[in-house]
Amino acid sequence: MISIRTIDKLALSPGSRVFYRVDYNVPIEGTRITDATRIEETLQTLNALRDRGAAIVIASHLGRPKGQRNEKYSLKPVRDCLAKLIDADVKWADDCVGADAEAKARALKADEILLLENLRFHAGEEKNDGAFAQQLRRLGQFYVNDAFGASHRAHASIDALPRLFPKDSIAGGLLLARELQFLQKVTNVSDRAFAAVLGGAKIAGKIEPLEALVKLADVILIGGGMANTFLAAKGVAMGGSLVDQESMEIAKRILAGGARARVELPVDLVVADSLDAPSKIETVDVSRGLTANQKAFDIGPKTIAAYTSELKRAKTIFWNGPMGVFEKEQFAKGTMAIARALGKADATTIVGGGESVEAVKASGAADTITHISTGGGASLEFIAGESLPGVEVLRT
Ligand code: 3PG
Ligand code: MG
Repeated sequence: MISIRTIDKLALSPGSRVFYRVDYNVPIEGTRITDATRIEETLQTLNALRDRGAAIVIASHLGRPKGQRNEKYSLKPVRDCLAKLIDADVKWADDCVGADAEAKARALKADEILLLENLRFHAGEEKNDGAFAQQLRRLGQFYVNDAFGASHRAHASIDALPRLFPKDSIAGGLLLARELQFLQKVTNVSDRAFAAVLGGAKIAGKIEPLEALVKLADVILIGGGMANTFLAAKGVAMGGSLVDQESMEIAKRILAGGARARVELPVDLVVADSLDAPSKIETVDVSRGLTANQKAFDIGPKTIAAYTSELKRAKTIFWNGPMGVFEKEQFAKGTMAIARALGKADATTIVGGGESVEAVKASGAADTITHISTGGGASLEFIAGESLPGVEVLRT
C-alpha cells in the first residue's frame, strides 16, 4: 500500500499560508465551465484547511498553452465558478509568480483564498524548472497537493516545488488520498475477474499502461480509436479510420499474447463516410474489413453484447476512454452501453478519464460507480503500476 502525508499532520495555525496545487483543468466552452467536477472535488480539502484558519493560495494549470500567456487558457472562469461553489470571495493574481502574486499571498488573512493565473503560462512549469519552483515557494509556508489528475507529470508545481519545503510541511489533500485509496483496490486486485475497458482516440501515451495492464487484468476490452490500430495490426482493412501507425509494432506485440490478459477486439463496427455529415451509416463485420471511404466511429451491436457479457462476469472493472465518437448521438451507443454495463455490474467499478466520466454521467449510471477518478492519464498510469511523481514526493 502507498501511504502519503496527510493534511491533519500539518502544524497549521490561523493565518498559515498554504500553497494548494489542484487540477482545475476543466472543460470550458467560451467562458462557461461545462463540467465542474474537478473543482467540486476540492471543496472538502479547501474547507478543512479553512476550518483550521489557513490562508490558501491556489495554483493550477489549464490546457496546454505551451509556456506562454494565452487568454484562451485563463483560469478566470474557474475563479467565478469556485467563488460560487465555496460561497466566498476568491482573490485573483494575474500571474502565478512575481511581486504581485507574492504581495497578494502575504496579505491573505485566515480562511481567505487567492487563485493564481495558469501555471503553464510559464515554460518553467512543464520543464520542472528549479528557479520557477523557487519563485512559487515564496507563496506558501505549507504545500498541499490535490492535483491527482496531473500527478503523473514531473512538473515544477508537482515535483520540484514540494522538495523545497521541509518534509513536515507538505501533504496530499483529501482528494488525492481518496483517489489513491480507491485506485489501490484495483492495483491490489483481490476480486477477479478483473476486466479493463480501454478506448479513446489515441494509443500513444497509453501504451506503457497497456503493457502493464495485460499482466494484471484477466481480460482487456478494447474500443474506440485504439481498437482501429489493433485491428489494423491484425491485418484488417480499416479504410479511412484513424490508425496510429507509430503504435502498430507495440499493438502487434500485445496481440502476440503471452501475458495474463485476453485482449478482446471489436467484431463489428459502426462506420460512415464522414463524421460531421455522414451520408451512409452502416454496421460492418470486422471479418469483411472496411472499404477505402469507410471510417469506424463506434463499436457494433455484436461487440456490445460480447463486452457486456464479459463485464457481467467481472468483479473488478476499470474503464478509461470511450468506445467511439460519443459526442455524436449516432456513434454513442457503444460508449453508453459500456457505461450502463458498469452501472449494473456486481463489481468494484472505477472510471478514469474525462470522456469516460462524462459518458458515465450522461448514462445516468454515475451514482452506482464505486469511484470516478478525476485523473485520466494519471489513473491509467497508476493502475499500470507506474510511480507518479506527484505521489512519490508525498510518500511517508
Ligand atoms: C488532464 O486533464 O489530463 C490533466 O489535467 C493533465 O493535463 P495534461 O494531460 O495536459 O498534462
Ligand atoms: Mg491529459
